[in-house]
Amino acid sequence: MLDNKFKWWQKTVVYQVYPRSFKDSTGNGIGDLQGIIEKLDYLQELGVETIWFSPFYPSPIYKPYSQHDCGYDISNYKEIHPEYGTMEIFDNLVKEIHDRDMKIVLDMVLNHTSIEHPWFKESRSSRDNPKHDWYIWRDGRKPNGKKPPNNWNSMIGKAWEYDPHTDQWFYHAFLPFQPDLNYRNSEVQREMLDTVRFWLKKGVDGYRLDLINTLFKDAQFRNTPFVFKLYSEDGDLFFRSSEMTINLPDTLEFCKILRATIDEFLDKFLVGENNASLKILKTYLGDMSKDGISHDGLNLVFLFQSMNTPMKPKRFRNLMQMYEKWFPYPYTPTWVFGNHDQMRRITKIGDNFNKAKINAVLQLTARGVPFIYYGDEIGMKEGKASKKDSRDAISHHFNWIPQFIRNIIGKYGIYMNRDGCRTPMQWDDSENAGFCPPNIEPWLPIHPSFVKRNVNREEKDVGSLLNCYRKLLKVRKENLALQIGDFALINLKKLNKICLTYHRIYEKQKIFVYLNFGNKELFLLSPIQKPQLIFSTLPNRKALNLKVYNGNIKLTPFEGIIFK
Ligand code: NOJ
Repeated sequence: MLDNKFKWWQKTVVYQVYPRSFKDSTGNGIGDLQGIIEKLDYLQELGVETIWFSPFYPSPIYKPYSQHDCGYDISNYKEIHPEYGTMEIFDNLVKEIHDRDMKIVLDMVLNHTSIEHPWFKESRSSRDNPKHDWYIWRDGRKPNGKKPPNNWNSMIGKAWEYDPHTDQWFYHAFLPFQPDLNYRNSEVQREMLDTVRFWLKKGVDGYRLDLINTLFKDAQFRNTPFVFKLYSEDGDLFFRSSEMTINLPDTLEFCKILRATIDEFLDKFLVGENNASLKILKTYLGDMSKDGISHDGLNLVFLFQSMNTPMKPKRFRNLMQMYEKWFPYPYTPTWVFGNHDQMRRITKIGDNFNKAKINAVLQLTARGVPFIYYGDEIGMKEGKASKKDSRDAISHHFNWIPQFIRNIIGKYGIYMNRDGCRTPMQWDDSENAGFCPPNIEPWLPIHPSFVKRNVNREEKDVGSLLNCYRKLLKVRKENLALQIGDFALINLKKLNKICLTYHRIYEKQKIFVYLNFGNKELFLLSPIQKPQLIFSTLPNRKALNLKVYNGNIKLTPFEGIIFK
């Protein structure tokens, strides 16, 4: 395959910055844009090329604080929230990122606004207000309209809120203070596409699209039918089908409009957030072009299937096979192990650094675009987030659920307090971990592990997770096969249980990745005569020394290697 058949976003590595938690430059305990600018050299040295920022748009002063859902409740799409900085600083951020040959991706929350957005305030002011139809309003059920219009659910339970002033109900796919915009209204579509263009004109390189699956709902507001499923990947829940509210054909069509909009500019990209089966996710990418090298929907979708995959090679083998089946070239899979809504990956895998390194090799060498969540490169663990002190809107919403029940359901992967994965970045071992000045209270407590787990310390340790990421990112950058090469699994038969092996091929380059997930030494016949080691999770390993091991490659416990 020729290199020019690939766009930059198919080769890139994305790093997600949660602005509130990255670096505070003003001394108020909240991360900000200037703080991010100060840390761009760190990101460049790490070797990531694209930075995705969770939202920093204005969010209302909402009881008891602003940024209730930390920016996913927007009250102005074309400004910067004062806690994070100014438009001038934002423009400088774009420049500083581009000066480093890096890309910037913003979060775009198209589905809903904040309840305090001026549009919604107008919308709820009266039934005849021109903006009334910008949101989804319905009369309640007869006889007195005091029952919700239909049986729809939101992602968190109740979907309809009663508004006494208009004597109507409004719909929300997420929390009650995030009313859904009405995409069946052409003015809404026009306004939101204009918003998309606004930041592209300012130079951003693409968007992560929040809750892209919920934009359109059934036009006739029909009740959701019964399905014999307690739960499905595609949103069916407690015997209710999701077909009236999620993944509607109109939403897929709108994704094509979004794509056409960003294609008015040069080389931009869209990645959609949607928790769904691979079959459904694929439909968001649109139809294949005639030349077979592009498609007309979203450029990428997050594949969250990897998020909770246990550290078992067979599970990853299956996943990789499925990704190859559903997303062959020119489709590009994504590799995601953490984000601001998920428990930290290292905590899920038993706080084990050996496993974290294997995980990193896999993420950065499998075919697809890796998304690294800030702090994962230093092994930041899940913070203790108790219900009592929680800041997260989800935790507040479910305040009635006692802590001990939360602990139990947490064991089944239901995450009720996202504070734990949002704790401030650990830069050094000084008070407040270098995130904000000493004697200031950070917006979330610093994780106590910061004394040992911090950038400063790990930079100096050749065997650290941070240096493992750095080396890996360098190796990936130097070898096109790892960025865009074809992928194939290597079958080790019985050993597939403890070992995951594959190769990537680009033109004449063939690169092998061997990952030992077990705690035993392994000897594997070398697939080539003179393998040249280009990476090992062991910092001091320099060569494969085939002769010493009778033509075999020795893999020490939990070792991952890359060779060619
Ligand atoms: C998904 C975002 O990732 C999450 O943080 C947010 O709370 C919801 N969408 C609502 O916008």
